[in-house]
Amino acid sequence: MEVLAINGSARGGRGVTGRLLAALGEGLTAGGAKLQVLEAAKLKVAPCIACLACMFKTPGVCAQRDDMDQVVEGLRQASLLVLAAPVYTDGYPAQLKAVLDRMICCLQPYLTRDPAGRERHPLWWPMPRDFLLLATSGFPEPATFAPLIANFRAQAANFFARPLAELCLPGSIALQMRPQALEPHLELLRRAGRALASEGELDQTLTAAINRPPLSVDQYLEIGREYEAVCRQRLAKAGAGS
Ligand SMILES: Cc1cc2nc3c(=O)[nH]c(=O)nc-3n(C[C@H](O)[C@H](O)[C@H](O)COP(=O)(O)O)c2cc1C
Repeated sequence: MEVLAINGSARGGRGVTGRLLAALGEGLTAGGAKLQVLEAAKLKVAPCIACLACMFKTPGVCAQRDDMDQVVEGLRQASLLVLAAPVYTDGYPAQLKAVLDRMICCLQPYLTRDPAGRERHPLWWPMPRDFLLLATSGFPEPATFAPLIANFRAQAANFFARPLAELCLPGSIALQMRPQALEPHLELLRRAGRALASEGELDQTLTAAINRPPLSVDQYLEIGREYEAVCRQRLAKAGAGS
């Protein structure tokens, strides 16, 4: 099984997204998958310019030459695409959105009805069969992920992929103050990676365990008070405190 994972965080591997993806990746590799990880922040991918050359002039090939070529090569080989993303203003980070928009180079201009009965563009070339969302957020409520999940499912539908799972771990503001609080979830993500590599599926019990927030809102708020004290110190040091 070949897996392409794109880390959408502006902080690349240094953030919480990077920790989550590293754990899932360890499991995937241990289970025998061939994994390629790309960091959107390190890629030079210009936004789509809507020239539609990929539809009408050079079918299936984007007119812009940049690091998207590398992403396309990975997409064409992978059977699973992992979109690893922090929530940025209730959506994907711009670096990752640029990649997602440029993925339309696989679409034909014609129309076809998808299995759900919606009109879509057929594909020039097959995308990975499965998409998986791995996400984190600064705020603690699982509902924070609703816009990202809606977008993820719509993206999967656009590309005729199966939205295999959404693994969403909220509360990164507090998790960064207590990195060890994430450890049990990292172990679950390693298990998930192994299961994905060997069975190509994730069972619902494991998915539900991963999606149980590492910290309750009360725990988050308690740690949040420490976090705010650090914020005040940093602002005072910068001469910007109130
Ligand atoms: C530009 C920007 C927008 C953000 N918007 C949200 C948001 O809408 N909701 C939220 O819960 N967290 C938001 N966050 C917090 C990030 O999701 C959080 O810090 C996450 O840990 C960043 O991922 P990383 O640790 O992998 O860098 C935002 C962060 C940034 C930098």
